[in-house]
Amino acid sequence: MAKIAVLGYGTVGSGVVEVINTNYDSIAKRATDVVEVKSVLDLRDFPGDPIQEKIVHDIDLIINDPEIDVVVEVMGGVEPAFTFVKRALEAGKSVCTSNKALVAAHGSELLAMAKDRNLNFMFEASVGGGIPIIRPLNQSLTADEITQITGILNGTTNYILTKMSRKGSSYDEVLKEAQELGYAERNPEADVEGFDACRKIAILTSLAFGSTVKFEEITTEGITKISTEDFKYAEQLGCVVKLLATSRKIDNKVYAITAPFMIDASHPLYNVNDVLNGIYINGNVIGDVMFFGAGAGKLPTASAVVADVVDCVKHKGKNVMTIWSSEKLELGATDDVKRDFFVRVKGNDASKVKELFGNVPIITVPDIKGEFGFVTGFMTEKAFNEAAKELNVINRIRLDHTKL
Ligand code: HSE
Repeated sequence: MAKIAVLGYGTVGSGVVEVINTNYDSIAKRATDVVEVKSVLDLRDFPGDPIQEKIVHDIDLIINDPEIDVVVEVMGGVEPAFTFVKRALEAGKSVCTSNKALVAAHGSELLAMAKDRNLNFMFEASVGGGIPIIRPLNQSLTADEITQITGILNGTTNYILTKMSRKGSSYDEVLKEAQELGYAERNPEADVEGFDACRKIAILTSLAFGSTVKFEEITTEGITKISTEDFKYAEQLGCVVKLLATSRKIDNKVYAITAPFMIDASHPLYNVNDVLNGIYINGNVIGDVMFFGAGAGKLPTASAVVADVVDCVKHKGKNVMTIWSSEKLELGATDDVKRDFFVRVKGNDASKVKELFGNVPIITVPDIKGEFGFVTGFMTEKAFNEAAKELNVINRIRLDHTKL
């Protein structure tokens, strides 16, 4: 029997226990051993809940328990999760986590610790919730040189943007609704400012290119400045606005960004709506690959965590290699990337726009007065920013033209 401990009995932790109970027999077959939750670490008690008999309040009871082979960390946040995970690995236990903050900050170090001890550190659920994406990058796409990863990696913001687009509601209205439905946190900053998606693309990019991307160095913009007016212009252009997290290899340099983009109906992520996530990958020999599904939520995330537990049990005593070195991957400067930009400008005089950007078509929306929009030609961010300084810009949104 393989005994596991779960750190944190919140949404994902209770989901892990539920998944193991629901699919007890099939999990045992696939893991080639019965998987049993022995202990659950939480500060709280759960009187009346059958989990109560497994609740412990002291991490030492788990670390010092020789019967526990695998520790599941689903507490979130970097500390104390990092300390607990390191202690579990030092004590000879494999670790599975859904914690993207931990993986983005310390992934390579924890992988090396696991490898040195013939253990495993697995984190399938840290990106894309229930969507298999870490394992495909690590085990299936290994014949390829990855050239691009572009994802909708945050369910909360995708829900907000979808509702703003379909209902014409304001950002504040939809955020409130998302909070009431339990999609958005009471403090939604990590989601709406793009930090969550930024950490996820840092993890995927580190895995795809084999060295560490510092998430702090990824240009990151959230969705808080996107307005109902922006969606009206987007509609005129046949586009929607999506928070994309993307990395591309261009001339041997990797460029990464998390920001709202306008995309049209030919884009592979155009139809990824509501809380769903989608990830497009291009490899130099496989070409285009798409992953799509439940990017968040109790059971989808727990499904990915338990799949990692199965892998750890199946590979007891054997490290399943993940190539992610601690060497830093120097990202290319966002300023050097060429793209086109949708821009909204105050006033009605387009002469300065034409002088700066050439004869670009002017876009107006019948019920939006005192301003107009236009789309630039293909240019570097640096050149765009220089030129835009001379205009009274209300907002600008990048365009992405990824096609299948
Ligand atoms: N807050 C995250 C999201 C949870 O909305 O996608 C899953 O990582």
